[in-house]
Amino acid sequence: MKTQEILDLYSRCVIGNYTRLPVVIVRAEGSQMWDAEGKRYLDLFPGWGCSLVGHCHPRVVEAIRNQVGRLIHIDNTFYTEEQGRLAEILHDKGFGGQSYFCNSGAEANEAAIKLARRHTPPSRYKIITTEKSFHGRTYGAMSATGQSKTHQGHEPLVPGFVYVPYNDLDAVAKAVTAETAAILVEPIQGEGGVRIPDDNYLPGLRELCDDNGIQLILDEVQTGCGRTGQCFAYQRTSIEPDIMTLAKALGGGTPIGAMVARPDVAASLKPGSHATTYGANPVVVAASIAMFEAIDAEKLLDNANHMSCYILDKARQLQQQFGFIEAVRGRGLMIGIELSLPGAPIVAAALSRGLRINCTQETVLRMLPAMTITPVEVDEAFSILTEALQETESKLVTT
Ligand SMILES: Cc1ncc(COP(=O)(O)O)c(C=O)c1O
Repeated sequence: MKTQEILDLYSRCVIGNYTRLPVVIVRAEGSQMWDAEGKRYLDLFPGWGCSLVGHCHPRVVEAIRNQVGRLIHIDNTFYTEEQGRLAEILHDKGFGGQSYFCNSGAEANEAAIKLARRHTPPSRYKIITTEKSFHGRTYGAMSATGQSKTHQGHEPLVPGFVYVPYNDLDAVAKAVTAETAAILVEPIQGEGGVRIPDDNYLPGLRELCDDNGIQLILDEVQTGCGRTGQCFAYQRTSIEPDIMTLAKALGGGTPIGAMVARPDVAASLKPGSHATTYGANPVVVAASIAMFEAIDAEKLLDNANHMSCYILDKARQLQQQFGFIEAVRGRGLMIGIELSLPGAPIVAAALSRGLRINCTQETVLRMLPAMTITPVEVDEAFSILTEALQETESKLVTT
């Protein structure tokens, strides 16, 4: 089918809840993808952060191929070796927690919210979250999200969420009451504009939780699995969470989420208290194990840290060149370029030249490149981005 035919098909048959770019993708590999017209794109935002080891990583492809011929789905009435092995990886790479598997980030956060409430007496049901956070689109996760634009049209929200400014320990301390069950934060805000908190923020939250007997839930859906140059973003600090949520990259490009909890906390999730039919489907679990194997075998954490410096250097050079770049932020392969003007036209100008990036919070250009990205690909991406920025600059001069 031709591109226009597919777009027409969508307008007839697919609900229009996404703002889509008018491009039909037919194939992708590493940090590159191709559309139905044969045009190649460099993808610095592969799968909204899901394709952390690049599109169609060969180890992930092989693991899926091997698994589908043996066992595609089996429900959680039974045990599988695959689920146990993935849980062991998360246990060993993280804080010795036990895993509950689901299918998305929102579901992982739903599980965390339910667990935090179950683990504390009924009078303690409130969860403190932060402004500009993003935790997902289901009712609990959406209500936890501290952005009114995400709530609009869906009120009344699930009660019990209290929002405080991000990176503000005093505000959290003031919000803690005898009714508080948990604090839920992203170690770095992603959708909020790649906001990196001060070094004392997570340790300060840990202390507050310990002093008040409440749970610290870290939403590592966007930051987890190696994105920030550590397996989990909290590992840059000396603290550990009580509960951590994962999704996006966890499946190597297939849909899986996980909630990992300290065993004594996890014990509050008894049979019948929570479940999902597809949780830990063997195919996505095999993909997830292969993704972690790829990161270890190919030393991708080292590459992520190396390429992070390379990309941030290039972004800072752009900041010298273009007055409308206000700030460059990043940790590992989570990069934000804050502008003093809307970013959408720049995203469009880059796409027309064959570069895919994202814009969040209207003015923050965001890149979540694959851990396999190479310097040659970064050079090409930044030369396209420079042209897109020049186009914006020339329009500013003429208006
Ligand atoms: C930090 C964070 N939490 C949760 C979610 C929701 O994940 P999903 O879209 O898989 O439900 C996202 C998605 O962008 C996210 O960035």
